[in-house]
Amino acid sequence: MNRIWYGGDYNPEQWPRDVWDEDVELMRRAGVTVITLGVFSWAKLEPEDGRFDFGWLDDIIDRLHSAGIRVDLATATASPPAWLALKHPETLPVTADGVRLGTGSRQQYSPSSRTYKRYAGRLVRALAERYGSHPALEAWHVNNELACHTRHDYSDESAAEFRNWLQRRYGDIETLNQAWGTAFWSQNYSSFAEVMPPRAMPTFPNPTQRLDFDRFTSDAWLGVYRAEVAILREITPDVPITTNFMGFFIGADYWSWADELDFISDDHYADPADPAAAAYAAMTRDLMRSLGRGRPWILMEQATSAVNWRTRNAAIPAGWHRALSLQAVARGADGIMQFQWRQSRAGAEKFHSAMVPHAGTDTRIFRETVKLGQELAGLADLVEARVDARVAILFDWDSWWAHEQDASPARTNYVAEVFRWYRELWDYGVLTDFVRAGEPLDDYDVVIAPAVLVLSEESRAVLAEFVHTGGHLLATYLTGVLDENLHAVLGGYPGPALRDILGVWIEEFAPPAAPSMSLGDVPNLEIDGLAAGVATGWGEVVRLDGAEVRSWFRGGILDGLPAITRHAAGSGIAWYAATAPANAAALMRELLDGASIPFESDLPIGVEWVTRGERTFVINHTDEWKWVDGVHLEPFGASVSQPPVRCSHSDER
Ligand code: GLA
Repeated sequence: MNRIWYGGDYNPEQWPRDVWDEDVELMRRAGVTVITLGVFSWAKLEPEDGRFDFGWLDDIIDRLHSAGIRVDLATATASPPAWLALKHPETLPVTADGVRLGTGSRQQYSPSSRTYKRYAGRLVRALAERYGSHPALEAWHVNNELACHTRHDYSDESAAEFRNWLQRRYGDIETLNQAWGTAFWSQNYSSFAEVMPPRAMPTFPNPTQRLDFDRFTSDAWLGVYRAEVAILREITPDVPITTNFMGFFIGADYWSWADELDFISDDHYADPADPAAAAYAAMTRDLMRSLGRGRPWILMEQATSAVNWRTRNAAIPAGWHRALSLQAVARGADGIMQFQWRQSRAGAEKFHSAMVPHAGTDTRIFRETVKLGQELAGLADLVEARVDARVAILFDWDSWWAHEQDASPARTNYVAEVFRWYRELWDYGVLTDFVRAGEPLDDYDVVIAPAVLVLSEESRAVLAEFVHTGGHLLATYLTGVLDENLHAVLGGYPGPALRDILGVWIEEFAPPAAPSMSLGDVPNLEIDGLAAGVATGWGEVVRLDGAEVRSWFRGGILDGLPAITRHAAGSGIAWYAATAPANAAALMRELLDGASIPFESDLPIGVEWVTRGERTFVINHTDEWKWVDGVHLEPFGASVSQPPVRCSHSDER
């Protein structure tokens, strides 16, 4: 489509038909270009086993089509009808302590259930056959937020699938025993039949069993996606397919999913109470662009104001929604969609904002909805335009899962660690990609590996090669401590390949001590030298093996030992940070300067500066006026430059 997607989830089945007429009229007024239909419509589309009712869907799709609005048609499989659970209770998911979840909410099915997939597949086939050649069809929206509510399923069917998955991964039980380190605590298995998912158990589960269950679970949900995609590709090979991601979502390793989507789409609900919300939103946008390998993506859901699921559901200030929408476009989105078009009157989400609020059209929200539609219509020149970054951060789901385990070094909040370093780059207006561990790094000059706890031998080799061939690497504490089976590397972290390029090795972890019973915060560390001042949360005993010390710890058991080091290796530079300086700006400046990456050192805090295509976006995410490069930005204001005026063909002559 040569327009930016603008619209949202629409649930006409919640409303009488006279409201549909008004909806289509209002959508035109708001410049809506795409509507997502049918996400939770299964019970309406198939009210009884095998009896389909498509009449209402035909009607609304035709109405939208007549109004020139395209349809992102959901496969409606996200919330199975109650009759399926009654007939096949084995499709329901089971928690770690054996509770089978019930109906009355949504997403009550196990990703391993063959029966669920059979019924879902029948519905998908019927939809594809009926609407596959409808002129309004823009894309298929498979299921919805896969793995969102019931991430792990511990049912017997999942247990059997887990064993099959393990058998494929390890081949024989002895290899599994080695990988899982089952010599510990008498966990040795004699056959795959003895292996269980990590259901409720007396104390720490085997870490590799836990990690493999996380990996298996991600694959199981991908299996739900694939089962639907296989049918859609068979019947409508030319219709693009997506499923909506959830940003930094722990349940699914999106790197292994991304290539199976024709375009990436994402749901993001920025929290107005969080002063870092805009920077965090930028980080998820950059992840989405990176998952799609630079291709444009769609912001599939966001709220026009309050959500209904936080402890306090604050309204968002005027301008904030526009600012975050433009941020997404600047960072590669070709679509700005919301949940949802019309605010529900009943049900669990009736207090969730929408494009048309309960109060109607004489409202700030609806006025902003219309204005944003007009503005996005004027940005159509950006469709398909790419945004290129020279800096990347390594992001790794295995490491995330490992950090979350009870048996991890520090129960580190991995995404917060990643964000800490991303934020430094954001403050300097440096566009950042994310990369998967082990993938080539040739497109980048600077790579940051923050707390990447798990690294395979191959991934270590890629990092080493990156530095040898001229790359600038910053690895931080807790990187490369474990291999892909969660076995510790021996002879000093982070193991031979990285040790050589970093010129350091880690003898021991030494986070600041805090009494276990203390309710207070963990005490801070302090460092001198580059990025001097307070450093937070974590410290390590760094031993030098060729690196130059740029900062050192002050006080405590680490007094005088290296905190930040720099090492020239091959034609590149490798930095190591054994702690996180509260103010890492000086370190970042040196890292970026060393690689000749331009940055904006005068950018006011909370102002974002991004160039996409031929337009520059300057966005003020604060509630204060800001003055940037001759542009005066009101609170939550944004300026988007015009593309250069092109001479027409005749002018050129
Ligand atoms: C998710 C879901 C939507 C809706 C919103 C509410 O993103 O996909 O159906 O529940 O959350 O924030």
